[in-house]
Amino acid sequence: MAIEFRHENRVFTLETRHTSYQMKVDDFGFLLHLYYGGRIYGDMDYLLTYYDRGFSGNPSDVGNDRTYSLDALPQEYPAMGVGDFRNSALIVHNADGSDCCDLRYIGHETKKEKYRLQGLPAVYADPGEGETLEIYLEDRVSHVKVTLLYGVLEEADIITRSVVIENQGEQSVTVEKAASTCLDFLSGDYDMLSFYGRHTMERNLQREKISHGNHAFGSRRGASSHQYNPAVILAGENTTEDTGSCYGMVFVYSGNFLCEAEKDQYDQTRVLMGLQSDLFHYPLGKGERLTVPETILSYSDSGFGELSARFHRCIREHLCRGKYKDAPRPVLLNSWEASYFSFNGETILKLAKCAADLGIDMLVMDDGWFGKREDDNSGLGDWKVNEKKLGCTLKELTEKVNEMGVKFGIWIEPEMVSEDSDLYRNHPDWALQIPGREPVRCRNQLVLDFSREEVRDFIFGEICAILDQCSFAYIKWDMNRSITDVYSAVNGQGKVTYDYMLGVYDFLERLLRKYPDILIEGCSGGGGRFDAGMMYYTPQIWCSDNTDAVDRLRIQYGTSFFYPASTVCSHVSAVPNHQTGRSVSLHTRGVVAMAGSFGYELNPEKLLPEEKEAVKEQIRQYKAVEELIRKGTYYRLSDPFKDVYAAWMFVSEEKERAFLSVVMLEIHGNMTVNYVKLRGLEPQAVYRDTESGRRYYGADLMEAGLPMPVEQKEYPAYQIELMKECS
Ligand code: GLA
Repeated sequence: MAIEFRHENRVFTLETRHTSYQMKVDDFGFLLHLYYGGRIYGDMDYLLTYYDRGFSGNPSDVGNDRTYSLDALPQEYPAMGVGDFRNSALIVHNADGSDCCDLRYIGHETKKEKYRLQGLPAVYADPGEGETLEIYLEDRVSHVKVTLLYGVLEEADIITRSVVIENQGEQSVTVEKAASTCLDFLSGDYDMLSFYGRHTMERNLQREKISHGNHAFGSRRGASSHQYNPAVILAGENTTEDTGSCYGMVFVYSGNFLCEAEKDQYDQTRVLMGLQSDLFHYPLGKGERLTVPETILSYSDSGFGELSARFHRCIREHLCRGKYKDAPRPVLLNSWEASYFSFNGETILKLAKCAADLGIDMLVMDDGWFGKREDDNSGLGDWKVNEKKLGCTLKELTEKVNEMGVKFGIWIEPEMVSEDSDLYRNHPDWALQIPGREPVRCRNQLVLDFSREEVRDFIFGEICAILDQCSFAYIKWDMNRSITDVYSAVNGQGKVTYDYMLGVYDFLERLLRKYPDILIEGCSGGGGRFDAGMMYYTPQIWCSDNTDAVDRLRIQYGTSFFYPASTVCSHVSAVPNHQTGRSVSLHTRGVVAMAGSFGYELNPEKLLPEEKEAVKEQIRQYKAVEELIRKGTYYRLSDPFKDVYAAWMFVSEEKERAFLSVVMLEIHGNMTVNYVKLRGLEPQAVYRDTESGRRYYGADLMEAGLPMPVEQKEYPAYQIELMKECS
């Protein structure tokens, strides 16, 4: 039983294979957090201590007992206004102008299946794989009811949390802040690992000590952002890839978020993950409700590697959906870095011909095929095929590409509008704008108000009219600016950031239902919306607009802490690289791109004959290991921010096959030899290097490592496939 409730002391226990989570309803009806971590067996309420804490409030029910304070006790869902001065999970602004919500337990229910969320992405599980605990809390004055949702995936070692806030009172209230997860740790020192970055340099790892005061990061950009990813790890200071304890939290949401960590006056640590409170004032009239997006939690007592493996499995098997959840991902050629906006139908057909010759499965016609779109100053919103530019209809073009044995896909950016477009001229109020102010431009475009159904319906109709013309296999859904001017002509300000995201999810859901065979790839200037929320709809996402192999090593390293390789789109591009000017060998570019869903982002016509042969070989090799990359367990073998090489490997579930990749990052005179230690093999099994035929024990490769060749060149790369010998 994954969920247990003991009536006598009102203790809830959630259990997964290797972890336990416990909380308790106390005598006053407050829901206190007791424990989260490795498996425990008893009731952990003995951990609670009560002392007279100066200047900390005492609820009136405790009378003159000054030892009871919510400012010191660990809580499941701390709300503002009841004497806890730490960061709040919930702030409710009441009709009388007060900010107070005194949440007390009123009941609970367990369900034999994992909950789903209305209109929001969430982890799903087959009956028997997941269970739900719902705990009901209520403020007796405002009659705000809060349902805490806990999903338990026992075998996967995953716990999920979400929250539904419902106004059951007569008067309207406004939700000013809402998290879906609070973790209160009674003791311990923690490091916080977060993933910061910028456009074309996403998800760099930062590790800092959580000290006194608030440590916060998040997004106010309307998307989860390039700048901070909605995911965090809490770890002991000595935790490494394969030792020590760590907790992971991923927010299953693609909009504004907030993660806060604070060590309090008693050296207790509180961590919150939820909706961003800035630009958010969510009114709830009588009977209305707000669902706070889900957080996925896991705990590992054996380092980051195991934690990542659990998140990878959960995202791959319980979040990604559709035909491509389990299907091989097509190798694709994208036209963007090949021709940017300057192409016509001929260019596309030439690319298709190259794709066919090289063994590439699919051609993607990126930005520039619609409306007046010769650069990024105009045309967004006018989803009409530019037949003049293409020299034919889209149907004719698609058919010609398909006739060559190549699948076809297109780029779209449904959420945006250019001021120079018919759509904007006809419906200027459809863009998010603050009345009486000039809107802030970003890439010379504005954002459509996707919180409005009629706006979404119109764009949906236009996009479907395109998709219905041809047999597309793929679309790339882009979003190329941050959201400013947070104001909807119909919905005002407070609800927009959240309702906008719900609108995007609604659109994607409708698209998936109507076109279940189309693979949708997510994108937002590369990795600006690379998050678990999007993965529910788009099982792969363009990881970064930076295709430089060396930078990608670091971007993909940071990405790997939570997101599986199957979600990471990674392409070989031309040299000198368009973002950095760096030149790296075709082989090394291929090795780096094979750490994800693989493809090309160049004009193959410009390749030398021997390079074309090398590309054919890369594709053959990728296809041979595609399943291992998509489904295998991923191991980080180095830290490319610190080490002289980047190394990673995939190991099949049965450990009978492994695929190692190494890229040397430094070369020096009289270079020292580097030994790469492998992970995840069966120690006593013998593995054969499929190329050299050499045999090694798994333990030997893991304990002593493999010497890497010393070569006098920059960024040499190596791939080794290992097969377990039958014993
Ligand atoms: C974004 C994407 C690119 C490309 C362009 C097109 O920057 O990340 O891959 O699609 O838009 O405008």
